[in-house]
Amino acid sequence: MRRILVAGNWKMNLLQSQGAALSQFLAGKYGSCAVEILVCPASPYLSGVGTTIRGSAVQLGAQNLYFAPQGAFTGEVCGEMLKDVGCGWVLVGHSERRQFFGEQDELLAKKVAAGLQHGLKVVLCVGELLAERQAGQTEAVLEKQMAGLAQVSAEQMANIVIAYEPVWAIGTGVTASTEQAQQAHAFLRSQLKSRYGEAVASATRILYGGSVKADNALELLSQSDVDGALVGGASLKVDSFSAIIEAGIQAQARKS
Ligand code: PGA
Repeated sequence: MRRILVAGNWKMNLLQSQGAALSQFLAGKYGSCAVEILVCPASPYLSGVGTTIRGSAVQLGAQNLYFAPQGAFTGEVCGEMLKDVGCGWVLVGHSERRQFFGEQDELLAKKVAAGLQHGLKVVLCVGELLAERQAGQTEAVLEKQMAGLAQVSAEQMANIVIAYEPVWAIGTGVTASTEQAQQAHAFLRSQLKSRYGEAVASATRILYGGSVKADNALELLSQSDVDGALVGGASLKVDSFSAIIEAGIQAQARKS
């Protein structure tokens, strides 16, 4: 039985006081929870948000890391630093990192390995562009992006979550249909099976991301291969993010 994970990717949004208010609310409401909850604030605020949510069911993640363990890499942050400020998780390979910062699968594989090495759980993001979907290349693109797992052993897969985020659905208000999501997730699970075998494939969580909102979350999360949501815009407000968490709790109950 896979436990649903509802993750909020705040991206480059929310100043200190706003993130504090949101995390205070979430920590107050979810002392314990049937689903896992994760928030990923911008790096200057990790420590503060971490302090606010300590002892609650809300976990802390970073949005990015660099693979080197330390050293002269101006502007970068390593896994050990993230762990040091209380992160349990890190996102790797978000489409905005791929698109705007030129991150490619080879680099991402190093980042995934570095995250794991420092005891972080890693959410590896994959997803096709609109043109790739229209050209019928969705599965080929997803298969290629699974190269982010190149250095990950079967044992380490317990600390990996995959996020399927079709790029055309991110921040656009256009959500993948439940059929499109389920189909892509089932494909990703089949990829996991051919790489790691049945047990790992059926234990690994695959999140959907891309315009998840309060009103579409339950339907998406109820799909058999959708094990959670990576939420951008709707994770920035108390009402919409907690409604998605509630949808996760309902979906989890339906599935068990
Ligand atoms: P969105 O972003 O929910 O605003 O579409 C999702 C993501 O990029 O993780």
